[in-house]
Amino acid sequence: MRIEPGTRAIVTGASRGIGRALSVDLARRGARLGLMARGKEALDELAAELPPSPDGAHENAVADVSKWGQTSRAIDRLAKRLDGIDLLVANAGVLHYSPFAEQDVEEAEAMIQVNVLGTMYTVKAALPHMLERGRGHIVVLSSAAGLRSFPWGAVYGGTKAFDRGFAEALRHELAGTGISVTIVYPGEFGTTILAHQRDRLPAWRSNDEERPVTELVDAIVEGVEQDERAVYAPPIVRVLGLSGIAPGVTDRLLVRIRGRSAAPRLD
Ligand SMILES: NC(=O)c1ccc[n+]([C@@H]2O[C@H](COP(=O)([O-])OP(=O)(O)OC[C@H]3O[C@@H](n4cnc5c(N)ncnc54)[C@H](OP(=O)(O)O)[C@@H]3O)[C@@H](O)[C@H]2O)c1
Repeated sequence: MRIEPGTRAIVTGASRGIGRALSVDLARRGARLGLMARGKEALDELAAELPPSPDGAHENAVADVSKWGQTSRAIDRLAKRLDGIDLLVANAGVLHYSPFAEQDVEEAEAMIQVNVLGTMYTVKAALPHMLERGRGHIVVLSSAAGLRSFPWGAVYGGTKAFDRGFAEALRHELAGTGISVTIVYPGEFGTTILAHQRDRLPAWRSNDEERPVTELVDAIVEGVEQDERAVYAPPIVRVLGLSGIAPGVTDRLLVRIRGRSAAPRLD
């Protein structure tokens, strides 16, 4: 599909980071946005700042995607106001790095609730609106960690592997319906996702490696327009897919790139 005037796009986690940058880019291309997040003020500010759409005002809906009732009501309302959904971006997510033995159970639960249930609820709520019209595109934000999970990211990586498995099946299952699915595997981009723990990161994860989020936005837009199965950003992330068939090779490669803490066991 082309992203252009007439495109109606819903983005979760639109108030900051990747969701915000993507929403700005989609609006510049003429799309009309349905913005979702928990913080109303940030959504109102963003809706007012976006380039106007020729098809009507941008809309927003406050919802915690980890709650089915809030998510389905918000998406139904946005679909009605926008008069349909052409593009759905299931982007909202949270990340808490910690050695699992020390991980706070509430933080672990939050990752599962937002990254797993939130993604599933978002797609579940939007799909009937898209099936009804027989067209559309769904983008699911997984992560490089959904391809190869990293130390201190046992739960986060698990949630992102869910996103990958969920979206992989969906892309096939929706064949012939007019709806397609693209899975996005970002590496490390400069957003607010680690703002709460910049001073306590895993040794393999350096703040210096972060790339500008606009690079990821360009890759996502191209992935949607070219109907790509997967977007790997930066492209080297694709190598982590090797982990499923050659985990030892992947580990040794990671040690060379990121040091021993990325793969402490080489057996
Ligand atoms: N940044 C990276 O390097 C990177 C790498 C790989 C994958 N990803 C994935 O990309 C996605 C976006 O990450 P980001 O880096 O842009 O994060 P971010 O800067 O922290 O932004 C997260 C967005 O999600 C919203 N959000 C958080 N919890 C929510 C909830 N329960 N319900 C609704 N909205 C919620 C936040 O708004 P409110 O707090 O107002 O709700 C915010 O708009 C995530 O799925 C993440 O796992 C990011």
